[in-house]
Amino acid sequence: MADLYQYRTAPEEPLDCLYILQCIDSDPINGLDLDTKEKRALKQKAKALEPRGEDGEIISGECPIAVARRVTFIGVGDEADLSHAKLRSALRRVMKQATKNREYQIGLAAAVTVHGLTSAESRIFTLREAGLADYTFDDFKSKKNEFDKIDGIHFIPLAKESEEELEDRLKQVRMLRSSVRVARDLANRPGNDLTPEGIAVAAKQMADEVKGLRVTVLGVKELQKEKMGGILGVAQGSAQEPRLVVIEHRPKKPKKSVVLVGKGVTFDSGGISIKPSSGMGWMKYDMSGAATVIGVMRAVAELDLPMKIVGLVPTAENMPSGTAIKPGDILTMASGKTVEVDNTDAEGRLLLADALHYSAKFNPDIVIDFATLTGACVVALGHEAAGMMGNDDDLMDTLKSLGEKVGERVWPLPLYEEYAEYLKSEWADIRNAGSRWGGVVTAGAFLREFVPDKVSWAHLDVAGVAYHEKEHNGLPKGASGFGVVLTVEFLKGLLA
Ligand code: BES
Ligand code: MN
Ligand code: ZN
Repeated sequence: MADLYQYRTAPEEPLDCLYILQCIDSDPINGLDLDTKEKRALKQKAKALEPRGEDGEIISGECPIAVARRVTFIGVGDEADLSHAKLRSALRRVMKQATKNREYQIGLAAAVTVHGLTSAESRIFTLREAGLADYTFDDFKSKKNEFDKIDGIHFIPLAKESEEELEDRLKQVRMLRSSVRVARDLANRPGNDLTPEGIAVAAKQMADEVKGLRVTVLGVKELQKEKMGGILGVAQGSAQEPRLVVIEHRPKKPKKSVVLVGKGVTFDSGGISIKPSSGMGWMKYDMSGAATVIGVMRAVAELDLPMKIVGLVPTAENMPSGTAIKPGDILTMASGKTVEVDNTDAEGRLLLADALHYSAKFNPDIVIDFATLTGACVVALGHEAAGMMGNDDDLMDTLKSLGEKVGERVWPLPLYEEYAEYLKSEWADIRNAGSRWGGVVTAGAFLREFVPDKVSWAHLDVAGVAYHEKEHNGLPKGASGFGVVLTVEFLKGLLA
């Protein structure tokens, strides 16, 4: 598996290739920490090869300096509008090109700045994404993906960057990289392999690998004791038992208390309100929110953040069967509220409602939930941002601007009081689905009913960003791990 190394000034052997990212009309070499002679040689080479920096351009030649055998210029377009997406794509291109050419020890020179970021922010983004660009999920393939053969990525320090600074940044990046990979790997596992109990096992395994986490798992008996009619209801049509996985990080004198909730539907067939068969397979990703929470908890433990942080993962499989919940059924939730099941495909909110209610146990200041909750969110925002709702504008503003920084965007949607009307039920306290209109916000309005009082809450509907049906702006096909980086940065920010 590829590992990130710092660039060694005198590598024992030359690298296979030095990749240089280049923008149009700007010098890709000046900003690097190389000596004058080396810079001159590289510039001469650039003159001869004439890379223009156009987005998508790839130009190679012999490397004129001792660092590597070959040099390849990767164009990323105009620096003035260099976006997270463009840079991510360029880094993915580097990995593809390297694999194609069997260059398994590569250098990376990336003296470029993402539009709107400081140079430090941009640097960290570049390092992190370079570390994630070689990701593919091939656990179930006999023929393994070639990306795995890249086993050295050596970064050329920037001119203003000391070795310690770079090493420090790489340390952060390695940690986040592992956590994002945990989330992607989990979300990519198919429903037959990753069952609700499988999620519990994976959370325990993850917690065994780091220090500072305690995992408890509520099984059917405990869920019955907590009267979690939502979680139990969703699961009752499936041969797989539901779980509520609780992952706690509890340092001695915690500064704050935060609960993270992740939707863990290991497969969403829709239940009796069954989904059309075309594309149903994508619903193996319906536990992406859970995967994100587990990934974040890993980072929380590694960073040993001085806050009480609890991850709650309600997990079940949504299946049609003779024992499944039916439209018209009325469930009594953990909070005591009754819910008329109008549509068994609106299952995520039933699970989340019980988990949100349970979060009160940890006296949280802040609760954030992550869920592939509605198709309507994908209709509204496509694959470019998660939909965000909540009850605290400051919290949402913070998440929004952080998301723009780290390249995981969230976009606010309103939770007007009036939406509660859309969920009025004739027979129970509330209905689990509204009409067609406002599908993304009515889901949020439903969740709001179960959020404990006096808690700052944000709901992220990640249905459009948690996985991609094909490679998307440099993100791999399948799970993206969306939200891990954003949330870790958010939590770190609470300490400032
Ligand atoms: N898991 C789906 C939402 C989803 C759709 C995620 C597309 C990713 C891509 C969720 O459980 C669901 O089925 N929601 C319904 C709600 C409706 C019945 C009120 C939907 O969006 O259609
Ligand atoms: Mn559903
Ligand atoms: Zn679902």
